Amino acid sequence: MIAWSQHAASRTSRLRPSAIREILKLTQRGEVISFAGGLPAPDLFPVAAIREASERILSKRGAVSLQYSTTEGDPELRAWVASRYAGVRPEGVQIVSGSQQGLDLVGKCYLDPGDVVAVAAPTYPGALRAFEAYEVRFRAVEIDEDGMVPESLAEALESGVKLIYVIPDFDNPTGATLSLPRRHAIVDLARAHGVPILEDSPYSDLRFEGDPLPYLVDLAPDVVIHAGTFSKTMVPGFRLAWLAATPEALAPVTRAKQAADLHTSTFTQMLALEVARGGSLDGQIAKVCEHYGSRRDIMLAALDRELAGVSGFRWTRPHGGMFIWVSGPDEFDTTSTAHAAIEAGVAYVPGEAFYADRRRTDGLRLSYSVASPEQIEVGIARLAAIFRAA
Ligand SMILES: Cc1ncc(COP(=O)(O)O)c(C=O)c1O
Repeated sequence: MIAWSQHAASRTSRLRPSAIREILKLTQRGEVISFAGGLPAPDLFPVAAIREASERILSKRGAVSLQYSTTEGDPELRAWVASRYAGVRPEGVQIVSGSQQGLDLVGKCYLDPGDVVAVAAPTYPGALRAFEAYEVRFRAVEIDEDGMVPESLAEALESGVKLIYVIPDFDNPTGATLSLPRRHAIVDLARAHGVPILEDSPYSDLRFEGDPLPYLVDLAPDVVIHAGTFSKTMVPGFRLAWLAATPEALAPVTRAKQAADLHTSTFTQMLALEVARGGSLDGQIAKVCEHYGSRRDIMLAALDRELAGVSGFRWTRPHGGMFIWVSGPDEFDTTSTAHAAIEAGVAYVPGEAFYADRRRTDGLRLSYSVASPEQIEVGIARLAAIFRAA
């Protein structure tokens, strides 16, 4: 008999279960109002458009749509992706199975054990998990309502960094958007230090207010690998996304992808392109933005009403995306109040999970994407009662 846990490679000890998934398990109880998940709202999925597009693909492309295909991805899809950027050519697009796979592949190709990755504190735990598997260390960079703080990044770069990870639009978890001057400052710093940026942009199309800002990859294609996805605009279950950069930057990534899974589903690539080209994607994005925008307004109004009087609490006002970040007074412990909150029938993700060193506990993430207006009102009132009592 094999003692699997002793037999496992040492790097598996770094593969920790996701704290968010653990919380989500507890919220399966029907009466819990969950602001914890970051799931896109399933009622908005374009099921009919996907059904029709899938029939068209099977009739027009037949067996080709079900055959093995190239590692780089469907050429027409790569051209479509490139057309959405100013600084990207079709040869600079690598189709991946979810941007999560993109993060993993970039880690695999560009990070050695002991390398340092500069990440915002807080940041997306899925990125921390992806890079951690390559035995790296993290350097925390400050983030405020205008995104990553360039002065803090500059300090990090002085101490030696191999990769900068940035979520410029409607950040997960803070909801912050990187301002235009900071976009320029951050690419300038990356260039000056010769350190690449991994720009993770799953939420960029979900803007409810303000004007779109340029992608970092369009400002500086020489130093940026960009990750985009269909998960938040079409459906997450397709597991369909892309990396966009120079062909030179992506060359090792394509080889790593080939070793990992040969290629992303041929059928799904053709299907997503058919849906996007059929004109339903822009309408779909508009629908998603209107829905999330109205839920954000309701959640902000509820927070203003219920939590304004609770001393030391403040929260972000995102212009898009799916998340609001709430900060409590210093030393407030949102991990211990999470259990009381679930008892009271409301769930959030405690902030600890979003810090590489897991040291800060005063924040928490709320998602407004799936809750109904009534649930938002009731859930925020329950949360305020818990925080007042704590
Ligand atoms: C910041 C960020 N990056 C990447 C992902 C993964 O997205 P995908 O479904 O494309 O793998 C998510 C999903 O929530 C995310 O929030």
